[in-house]
Amino acid sequence: MTAEQTFNRETLENLIQSSAKVISKYQQPSGAYPASPNFQVYNYCWLRDGSFTADAMSRAGHLESAEAFFSWCSDIINSRRESILAGSNLDARYTYDGRESNENWETFQLDGYGTLLWAMKQHENRHGRDVGKYQDAAGLVQHYLATKWQEPSIDWWEERKGRHAASLACVYAGLSSYGHPEASSVHDAIDLLGERTDASLLACETLGAVEADLFAPTSAKIEQTLVGQDGGVFRYREDTYYGGGEWPLLAGFLGWHYVRTGRISEAQNKLKWIQDQTQANGWIPEQVQSIMLHPESYHEWVLKWGKPANPLLWSQAMMITLASELLDNLE
Ligand code: BGC
Repeated sequence: MTAEQTFNRETLENLIQSSAKVISKYQQPSGAYPASPNFQVYNYCWLRDGSFTADAMSRAGHLESAEAFFSWCSDIINSRRESILAGSNLDARYTYDGRESNENWETFQLDGYGTLLWAMKQHENRHGRDVGKYQDAAGLVQHYLATKWQEPSIDWWEERKGRHAASLACVYAGLSSYGHPEASSVHDAIDLLGERTDASLLACETLGAVEADLFAPTSAKIEQTLVGQDGGVFRYREDTYYGGGEWPLLAGFLGWHYVRTGRISEAQNKLKWIQDQTQANGWIPEQVQSIMLHPESYHEWVLKWGKPANPLLWSQAMMITLASELLDNLE
């Protein structure tokens, strides 16, 4: 059976709800989404993971879940109002009760704040919800991003400092959602030519920062060098984290890009690949090890932190995002 025959309205809706169930189970009473509940070093809520997760829950019709996350973020942001206005940096992740971590881990990442603004606006437009209660926080985040975006920050994978296209795309998506005038300068600073081939760049197209035809050379490079024989997607060729396996959430991004560019059967194949990585209990891990770019580096990570994160709520979210994009395409 081909993927195209496998997915119809009912199967897509079932996939969405079974993944949403895992997210609901682990969302904290505070509204925070743990990056991964069972992986000790990921017992924080990242704004990057969390904002894509809230968007997925909004798509899945779990409005209260998305809004609990937005409220949690708003409280964090509003309570740091003075330091934001004084020009301080904000962290990329927080404890479930909204505190900074004291671990030695690079935390100046701008993308999550942009993605948060984008997700809030998507939610408002999708469901016609009054998001007035987030207005103060949204205003502060716009001020923060508009004054900070030129500073080098840490990339999606928390490894390199710079003005990376994927991070700028998230900042652009957030500022442009709110019609902020600085959005166009951020847009003009996105430089795909200066980037290594990295699957996080897919966000440039899926979040609407780079037109599909301008993005085509980048997506071709990603397809040529970062897609494994079985259809999974690697982060970048030199990746040694847990041996550099394939990431379901990136298969979600590539599939989302395929839907946006009319390549529906390829999008269905990505969803099928994610479905194949899903455990019987509905969990989707951060990465899978069937094919690794650097298998010699797998064990050192297991010795350090245990088996790879599973479930990863961002993986659960991107399965929902792709399935909901396919569902919209049926309509
Ligand atoms: C990834 C980040 C992610 C974090 C939590 C890290 O390994 O590089 O992108 O936000 O895990 O899931």
